[in-house]
Amino acid sequence: MTEETINNIRNFVIVAHIDHGKSTLADRFLEITGTVPARSMKPQYLDQMDLERERGITIKMTPVRMVYKPYAQEFVLNLIDTPGHNDFAYEVSRALTAVEGAVLLVDATQGIQAQTLANFNFAKKAGLTIIGAVNKIDLNPPDLEIAVKDLALLIGTTPDKIHRVSGKTGYGVRGLLDDIVANIPPPKDADSRGLRADTRGKSALVFDSLYDDHKGVIAFTRVFSGTFVTYEETKLVTANEKFKIKELGFFSPKLTSAKELGAGEIGYIATGLKDPNKLKIGDTIGDAALTGYKEPKPVVFVSLYPTEEADYEDLKSALNRLKLNDSSFTFEPDASEVLGRGFKCGFLGRLHYEIVTQRLVREFNIETVSSFPSVAYRITLRGKTTAGSESARREPVEPAEKEIVIKTPQELPHEYTQIFQPMVQIEILTPPDYLGDILSLQKQFRFSNVDTQNFGDHLLVSTRMPLSELISNFDDKLKSASRGYASFSYEMAGEEKADLKKLEILVAGDAVPGLTRLVFKDEAEREGRSMAEKLKDLLPKQQFAQAIQSCVDGRVIARETIPALKKDVTGYLYGGDRTRKMKLWKKQKRGKERLKESGRVTLSADVFRELLKR
Ligand code: GTP
Repeated sequence: MTEETINNIRNFVIVAHIDHGKSTLADRFLEITGTVPARSMKPQYLDQMDLERERGITIKMTPVRMVYKPYAQEFVLNLIDTPGHNDFAYEVSRALTAVEGAVLLVDATQGIQAQTLANFNFAKKAGLTIIGAVNKIDLNPPDLEIAVKDLALLIGTTPDKIHRVSGKTGYGVRGLLDDIVANIPPPKDADSRGLRADTRGKSALVFDSLYDDHKGVIAFTRVFSGTFVTYEETKLVTANEKFKIKELGFFSPKLTSAKELGAGEIGYIATGLKDPNKLKIGDTIGDAALTGYKEPKPVVFVSLYPTEEADYEDLKSALNRLKLNDSSFTFEPDASEVLGRGFKCGFLGRLHYEIVTQRLVREFNIETVSSFPSVAYRITLRGKTTAGSESARREPVEPAEKEIVIKTPQELPHEYTQIFQPMVQIEILTPPDYLGDILSLQKQFRFSNVDTQNFGDHLLVSTRMPLSELISNFDDKLKSASRGYASFSYEMAGEEKADLKKLEILVAGDAVPGLTRLVFKDEAEREGRSMAEKLKDLLPKQQFAQAIQSCVDGRVIARETIPALKKDVTGYLYGGDRTRKMKLWKKQKRGKERLKESGRVTLSADVFRELLKR
């Protein structure tokens, strides 16, 4: 790759709070540069999943290479559209490492939001050149000037440098493209990005992946040094997995093969590898690893069971398929007496979990029932000493404390010394009027270290809280406390000791594993009672009476009974022969016993969903 060609490349991302219009702005870029012919254009073109279009959110980013010729010179613009939601922050951070610039987009009708701040901080940390733009000006937003002023203040520039655009009408978009060409620097090498671990050889950063039946795992990469060519032997450095490049090329936005991929370019490398687990986002292809690799780690765990037991194999193959293009979620077999066979799955966050279950329905037609989402707890145990036995004397003495990590509440052992729970640091940006209502959530969601600062016309509330509280319905509660005006972002922030109890719900004598939870000690009794009451209303009556019990640490603290469905089997017999009635009653009794024996008290997906609400 010549110096001149590199100088004509611009790699950038658009970052914004959710729904501020990234994908729509990207549509205009595609149009202006003629990347997608007008007749093929559809809104939010880069959001290729049906679910993304419907929910209007970007789940999976789609990079695109555009050729822009503002004057005699031609420029290659590589845009990576990024997911807006916090659950996917790691993907955003990898995308940021692959580029030199960012367009920070703010919806002028909403102003700066928590995710705008978080994205700005990410981009700044990655050393990117940041260009500010306020969007949706076709709506004549009354607070346009405030949004412009706030954004300028955040970026550290003057209001006249902030672009005013409409992704919808295209107003101002060409000016923004020209600014990208003029001010975002051409590709830098890994050294100047602080990414270099070893200065020799080739290196390409993997920032996303896709699975193709013929080409195997396809890595989305940014080349930092060297030139990759088709059929050459290379490897995934961290995974230490050799492969021969099957194909490589660019995103236009469809995969378009090329002969080579050189330093500074963004494109794809088809590895031919059939096992998607081999490739992890953040790994390097080539000779030496670029630093900063981190494996995306699931933090929310949910067991999924097919509503129809017969769908188990289908569910398994569907999860395998989904995993091909989403290496960040994990699953392993799990079984429950009541719910049958299923899978214990790990997700990056609550939204990630919801998306996967919705894709199961939509793409594979499989309905699932979920357990309560759980986080991973670290448990310390007192080491056992089997003093006296022959083997104990010969083996080394066990340490006094042992540790295990549990991802489902059922795994909590009877005896333990401490439980440590994962914590998050959250930043809430809100108009000052709602501060009181937001702080009223403090007790319920266990905020600690609350700090409030002014941010423009807003307040920035920073606090710590348990991750388990964040994934209950914190988003809904914050929305209603602030009438939708507050927004938040979060990051994982270590762990803390927690005083938790195991709450089990027994239906007809059987613990329903999906309903077992670890709850804070001071909430256990109330939560147990409320669960039993809720279940009583939610469960359909059966031919027999059903007992519902809530147990905390094995002790029954609440009990409800759902009366049997009274079915008058003899109603149609008028007077006359009593023996016939006796016969029918007997038949009914036998039926009830059979049902009881089968023991399957069906808890539908709806019942679970209702129970999940607080
Ligand atoms: P995420 O990917 O979920 O973060 O969303 P996004 O930032 O990609 O936003 P998207 O482009 O999907 O736009 C969100 C909504 O705003 C859609 O309903 C768009 O039609 C609308 N929208 C985007 N840009 C404009 C604009 O300039 N003017 C108006 N009036 N509406 C816009």
